[in-house]
Amino acid sequence: MEVVEAWERYAQGRTPRREVNSAGARTWLNWTQYPDHGPDESILGDLQGRTVLELGCGTGCNLAHLSTLGATCTGVDISPTQHEKAVARWGHLPGLTFHTAEVSDYLSRTDSTFDVVLSIFGPVWFTDPERLLPLIRKRLTPGGVLAFSHKPPSAGSEPVGTLREARAVTRWDYTPEEWSALLTSSGYSNSKAEIIPPPKGQEVGTLLVRACTGILFYPPLRK
Ligand SMILES: C[S@@+](CC[C@H](N)C(=O)[O-])C[C@H]1O[C@@H](n2cnc3c(N)ncnc32)[C@H](O)[C@@H]1O
Repeated sequence: MEVVEAWERYAQGRTPRREVNSAGARTWLNWTQYPDHGPDESILGDLQGRTVLELGCGTGCNLAHLSTLGATCTGVDISPTQHEKAVARWGHLPGLTFHTAEVSDYLSRTDSTFDVVLSIFGPVWFTDPERLLPLIRKRLTPGGVLAFSHKPPSAGSEPVGTLREARAVTRWDYTPEEWSALLTSSGYSNSKAEIIPPPKGQEVGTLLVRACTGILFYPPLRK
């Protein structure tokens, strides 16, 4: 309950994403903490006709973009306020469904399978990976992809800490090497964990992790 309240406070304090990005697009996917920066959805491969699940989808802006590319999209977020905002902004789009749920509960209950599971600064960072990674793995189709991003751990930080914005929330702050080992031991193959460099003038990059349930050659980071 404390965790839901923490994310509710977070949701209520957020300003909405811009209507249009610097390229003039009305929908887009952003893996990093900086606007108009980093790779786009192309690192997930072709999305037309694929089933996509986003864990911690917030106001749904990234997922809405994937639905405009022909994916059938499901978003899960623990915060009812985020759910309301997502439905208000994107509820008109076809092939896009939002649920209010804690991700481990959702993954334990659902019978659905997904070609792509993504999480951007989301619950993969805030949930014990030894519990969450196998739950995601069970819901991925053969050849399915898990991709997630969050800030890299800072030097000397503990691997398990709390989120500055919401202290009731635990954060699992692993290095690329630690994520790769966790993914392998949870049954994923071909994991790739890398740091997206920050934009000019910033110091902190973004950790991007991909893994799959089969053999896959990842599209490179283009930006
Ligand atoms: C930092 S925000 C990122 C939101 C969105 N992915 C984005 O990039 O704008 C983290 C989101 O994850 C959700 N969240 C955190 N832990 C969760 C959990 N265990 N289950 C479901 N949602 C969770 C929060 O409510 C919040 O909307």
